[in-house]
Amino acid sequence: MQISVVGGGYVGLVSAVCLAELGHIVRLIEIDQKKVDLINHGIPPIFELGLEEILKKNIGSGLIALSGYEEMENADCIVICVGTPPDKEGAADLSYIKSAAQSIGKAVKDIDKYQVITVKSTVPPGTTETLVKPIVMQNSGRTNDTLGFCMNPEFLREGRAIDDFMHPDRIVIGGDCDEAVRIFRKIYENLNAPLLSCSLKAAEMIKYASNAFLATKISFSNEIGNLCKKMGIDVYDVMKGVGYDHRINPYFLNAGLGFGGSCFPKDVSALVKLAEKYGEKPVLLKSVLSINDKQPARIVSLLEERIGSLKSKHIAVLGLAFKDNTDDVRDSRAIPVIEKLLKKGANVVAYDPMANETMKKVFPCIKYCEKPGAALSGADACLVLTEWPQFSDLNDEFRLMKNRVIIEGRRILSADVTEGVCW
Ligand code: UDX
Repeated sequence: MQISVVGGGYVGLVSAVCLAELGHIVRLIEIDQKKVDLINHGIPPIFELGLEEILKKNIGSGLIALSGYEEMENADCIVICVGTPPDKEGAADLSYIKSAAQSIGKAVKDIDKYQVITVKSTVPPGTTETLVKPIVMQNSGRTNDTLGFCMNPEFLREGRAIDDFMHPDRIVIGGDCDEAVRIFRKIYENLNAPLLSCSLKAAEMIKYASNAFLATKISFSNEIGNLCKKMGIDVYDVMKGVGYDHRINPYFLNAGLGFGGSCFPKDVSALVKLAEKYGEKPVLLKSVLSINDKQPARIVSLLEERIGSLKSKHIAVLGLAFKDNTDDVRDSRAIPVIEKLLKKGANVVAYDPMANETMKKVFPCIKYCEKPGAALSGADACLVLTEWPQFSDLNDEFRLMKNRVIIEGRRILSADVTEGVCW
């Protein structure tokens, strides 16, 4: 099939590359010319495991990046993958969606062929039907006979996005008519996964509900963990026992500093705003966010309990990314932790295998090290803030510390460590 993907950010790029890998002809439309040039040279503008390899394989054959809405007459499907960042109130900002819909509308004017416009961006239920569709219709002057609309949420985890795209747990396609769904589902023909076909609004809500449920599992584990710590119980034993129940399952029960990243905090906040807009009191979702917001303060208080005042103390921070396998620090739990350490006068010396450079934009003034040992050398204490698997190999490096006080925010070390934020 011929597919135009609008938006060369994280989701758009991964989707475009994977769709080309599945054998489709893909045009990736991205307004930033620098990104377009990088992509066309086979260089991904973001880090994602395995992305460079399949980008290099497909660029110039099944895949091309363009800075304008070119060759739209060839497209069977046009997939919108632009960002929906939070606005000042935490609701989803739909301005990029609106401008993409406008541009698509103008670009598909006067085309006779049946085309499907699909929203992949995470948007509040009702957006495809009441915002995207009218804007495209108005700007294109076309009718329902030649344009169909779908909503196809993505469930890609950063660092594992290629694998998630190629081996999804499910494919969800909401549609405004059977014809649109019939055509759009063909793009996933070669993937082996259960397919749920539903209304546009249901597809949009499935994305929010999935992320909110996963975030709830994490905050639930943290609340149990906080109690377990006070009672001298290992929360990891507890959640292992809980997770053996097939109705619960063992995933996303890791207690610690809570969730960060570009999706969970933003999507749960947007769902709260949406519920309030409809006159609901989303008490559960608000608690999920509130528990998450408080975990970073807990690790700093615990540190003060162990070493007293933090003023002028050398605190080694291992891990800055919001999770392992990424250089992304968006909403990383390391940010509020470092803010609090700095406020209390500590000297923060940080190390992350990938995210030193990205965190420099947030905290230009703290010290960054190329090796964990350099951050630990002479430290009064160490906080572990990201679940990088390679941290489990650290052992001798901790001998370089002035005092061996190590507190884990993520359960990852195998060195002899006595405590974590909630264990
Ligand atoms: C998430 C969803 O998993 C994905 O389906 C969606 O499309 C986008 O949002 P991502 O943000 O890449 O993906 O990361 P994920 O692996 O889900 O982790 C999110 C955060 O939760 C991280 O900060 C991680 O450290 C934390 N986490 C995860 C926990 O604290 N405990 C857990 O058990 C799991």
